Amino acid sequence: MRRRTFLGAAGAAAVALALSGAALAQEAVKIGLILPMTGPFASTGRQIEAAAKLYMQQQGDTVAGRKIQLILKDDTGVADVTKRLAQELIVNDKIAVMAGFGLTPLALAPAPLATQAKVPQVVMAAATATITEASPFIVRTSFTLPQATVPMAEWAAENGIKKVVTLVSDYGPGIDAEKAFTGAFTAKGGQVENLRVPLANPDFSPFLQKVADAKPDALFVFVPSGIGAQFMKQFVERGLDKSGIKLIGPGDVTDDDILNGMGDVALGAITTQHYSAAHDSPENKAFVEAFKKANPNMRPNFMAVGGYDGMHLIYEGLKKTGGQGGQALIDAMKGMSWTSPRGPVSIDPQTRDIIQNIYVRKVERRDGELYNVEFATIPNVKDPVKAAKFN
Ligand code: DHB
Repeated sequence: MRRRTFLGAAGAAAVALALSGAALAQEAVKIGLILPMTGPFASTGRQIEAAAKLYMQQQGDTVAGRKIQLILKDDTGVADVTKRLAQELIVNDKIAVMAGFGLTPLALAPAPLATQAKVPQVVMAAATATITEASPFIVRTSFTLPQATVPMAEWAAENGIKKVVTLVSDYGPGIDAEKAFTGAFTAKGGQVENLRVPLANPDFSPFLQKVADAKPDALFVFVPSGIGAQFMKQFVERGLDKSGIKLIGPGDVTDDDILNGMGDVALGAITTQHYSAAHDSPENKAFVEAFKKANPNMRPNFMAVGGYDGMHLIYEGLKKTGGQGGQALIDAMKGMSWTSPRGPVSIDPQTRDIIQNIYVRKVERRDGELYNVEFATIPNVKDPVKAAKFN
């Protein structure tokens, strides 16, 4: 009788343990993906969503024995909405990590929540240098504008360009691009005039008239992803394509998503950036092919690769923590390195920014399509703004 009771109690305990183990195993790790899926920056949302889903399709939806659940939310490109959605995802859905963040104001808005709740925030798109300083829980898989832009200034100075007008969207990343270019180019003896155009509904024509009058050797342009086509249309309408003024800048203006629609005006534009759909590596060939197969009528751009690598970072981090989020997950992400479709990358353990190659590219036609064809590589570039603070 006593023996039976003892066995019974032990048996019950074993069953209880097994049940709680099973319950734990079944509890999904939730990733909140907040993106502009509507509004003027929806192309960024579409690219990142497609890439994140492709990654999960390829790698499966179980990591460290836990199911991964992706919860997609549309912030419509409005920072107050991003913040409210992040709050709801943290409090109601108990997400382990939040990701996405299509523009700088949208990445900055939820940063205090990341800190308070200790929820890692993976920035897959936004690219103002200071974003990672807004919370110790922010890690970035996109790029920074100074990182992409300093090599542009150096290339221009070394290739006979002496006088440049910069034309940038008037907010964080544009101002970063303007400052990085102006600083590096004037240090090499170049001459620069700066123009800024509003971010919302930009009319480039009055600015392009000023450029035509100034007759620089080159026009340096930063507009966010998806806006390059509007810019190019007005560039042609103002006759600047026939002015002999060279088009240069970070690669956002000749974004792979919309480059094909720009036509011959884009041919010859020189840009510097971390990703091209034409990047020549087995990893990128496989990525572009799989992306196109899963998303007919789309070609992956630098936003897509930010989303794909962001998912990789989350998966590999969760593998290291056994499915835990919080401080353990952000710590696991620091220093991680891998071969991305863009080339070799790593997460700077000091700044939580991505260290990556920057390529100098020229728009060319290949097999009937326009591509940013890479012709020079600057390896392992850190964000220069933060590198200067740490060295
Ligand atoms: C940002 C947005 C973009 O679309 C881009 O190409 C670069 C930077 C930003 O808001 O940070």
